[in-house]
Amino acid sequence: MHLEDVFAPTLFARQTVFITGGGSGINLGVAECFARLGANIAICGRTQSKLDDAAGGLQKLGANVVAQAADVRDMDALADAMATTEKQLGPINVLVAGAAGNFTAPTEKLSSNGFRTVVDIDLVGAFNAARAAFEQLRQTRGSLIFISAGQAQAPFEFQAHAGAAKAGVDNLMKTLALEWGPYGIRANSVLPGWIADTEGLKRLAPPGSEHRIADEVPMRRMGDTADVGALACFLASPLASYITGNVVAADGGMMLRGSGI
Ligand code: HXC
Repeated sequence: MHLEDVFAPTLFARQTVFITGGGSGINLGVAECFARLGANIAICGRTQSKLDDAAGGLQKLGANVVAQAADVRDMDALADAMATTEKQLGPINVLVAGAAGNFTAPTEKLSSNGFRTVVDIDLVGAFNAARAAFEQLRQTRGSLIFISAGQAQAPFEFQAHAGAAKAGVDNLMKTLALEWGPYGIRANSVLPGWIADTEGLKRLAPPGSEHRIADEVPMRRMGDTADVGALACFLASPLASYITGNVVAADGGMMLRGSGI
């Protein structure tokens, strides 16, 4: 089933979608879904060459694309990237706060700086992005999509840093839904399950475990990035205009088992 067979291919025409961490993985898959539905796309990440490659693919889908190196831990860099985006594509209608960093580490071996680094990227980075986008989102009565993770709800061994960070992201999302609702800004989190061919899967799943993991998913398959992107597009669409403050999973039912990453 193609996205364009369900949603109008012009759903996000003349809209600007800004995606942190949009150069690869789930976030790039989300960017592709918005591009397929007519959006113009701004992506940021740490590596310009990776962003340029991603931008080429998004342009082939018909999007105008702005690809700028900016680390979400650097508020000034993010603010600059968003100002440039506004000039080149128009004000942001949808912010996808997706930039994340992760590794597995037993907590007794995790350094304070290791813990802080993941919290800085995932949680402070999500705050920075939302904060920097606020004026543009207020202007457009736009929408925030945070990328959550299963660890936020069901703790996962060796993921103290990421679980705490993503639980914080979901709490931040709910606070913003409350505070910014009166401006017409909605905020929701998308919680991806096991998504095939992603950096997250590579970092978290033991090598060779893909088939076993897929068999544990109620839907008996891993997700793909378009499963996450389709949900993000729905939540950002006018169909969801009364939906705010929610964590919604695209996980094939994995969270029912308490470990849907
Ligand atoms: C233990 C580690 C470690 C490891 C880094 N550290 N890797 N500790 N085990 N495998 C520690 C370092 O020793 C250091 O602490 C501190 O973390 C900072 O490391 P740096 O390499 O200096 O940080 P930085 O260059 O900013 O890199 C950030 C990173 C890195 C998260 C550590 O892996 C990264 O850039 N990742 C980006 C891509 C990524 O992770 N993608 C996967 C996203 S998947 P000390 O004490 O030595 O100074 C994902 C999906 C699931 O997020 C989500 C679940 C939440």
